[in-house]
Amino acid sequence: MIKSNYTRITTKTLQEMKFNGEKIAMLTAYDFTLAGIIDQAGIDIILVGDSASNVMAGHETTLPITLDQMIYHASSVVRSVQRALVVVDLPFGTYQADSKEALRSAIRIMKESGAHAVKLEGGKEVKDSIERILKAGIPVMGHLGLTPQSIYKFGSYTVRAKEEEEAAQLIEDAELLQGIGCFGIVLEKIPADLAANVAAKIKIPVIGIGAGNKVDGQVLVLHDMLGMSKTFSPRFLRRYLDLNKNISKAVESYTIDVKSGDFPNNKEQY
Ligand code: KIV
Repeated sequence: MIKSNYTRITTKTLQEMKFNGEKIAMLTAYDFTLAGIIDQAGIDIILVGDSASNVMAGHETTLPITLDQMIYHASSVVRSVQRALVVVDLPFGTYQADSKEALRSAIRIMKESGAHAVKLEGGKEVKDSIERILKAGIPVMGHLGLTPQSIYKFGSYTVRAKEEEEAAQLIEDAELLQGIGCFGIVLEKIPADLAANVAAKIKIPVIGIGAGNKVDGQVLVLHDMLGMSKTFSPRFLRRYLDLNKNISKAVESYTIDVKSGDFPNNKEQY
């Protein structure tokens, strides 16, 4: 495990890390086993992302995943985590309609999963929802730039905020999220210079994905950085393993051993 000054990550320690210039490492997880491994390895934040909709359930977008499904994933993760801060995405349709529904959704996540914070997508359009959740004592992380729950508005997963107007709106939204009390912001797939500008302007931690390295930390989808998928290859993704190949090889070997009668051998039986 990586040496760290912190035995438990909280929203306060994340703020300290930004203040001290210590980068924050964040990954997604959706289940007990992998969450336990990445927690033990020293990850700072575990995001139970609505990317579970793609990665775990095989949906094309993040839109179909439900609150109950997010709570199931989050409670599995929380059961194995001892150090990391566990943040859970509020899924599409559970916070946009009105702030009371947003609060009810956030309360269900906190109460039924034991997670430590929620994340939701958007800026000024979800201000009321965020404020109401924060008033109930629930820490909130923002998410700006490419916000996958709005994919049908954007039309594609290309880089956001390249134009001046959208970049100015993003900066305004980041300042608003800080102003109302969010403890951090994810910036997804925006120009590196813009992300650097936001991270320098605001005092809360800014975590990037496809947003360059002049921000306060990085997040990736665990299954992507482990190389589980052969097809998903955005420029920002660094693969640290080729698990797709390794798992295939292991399963091939197992199948050959079973079919040949080699498995189990004498030592592997009672
Ligand atoms: O759902 C998710 O995995 C996310 C990350 C990509 C930031 O929101």
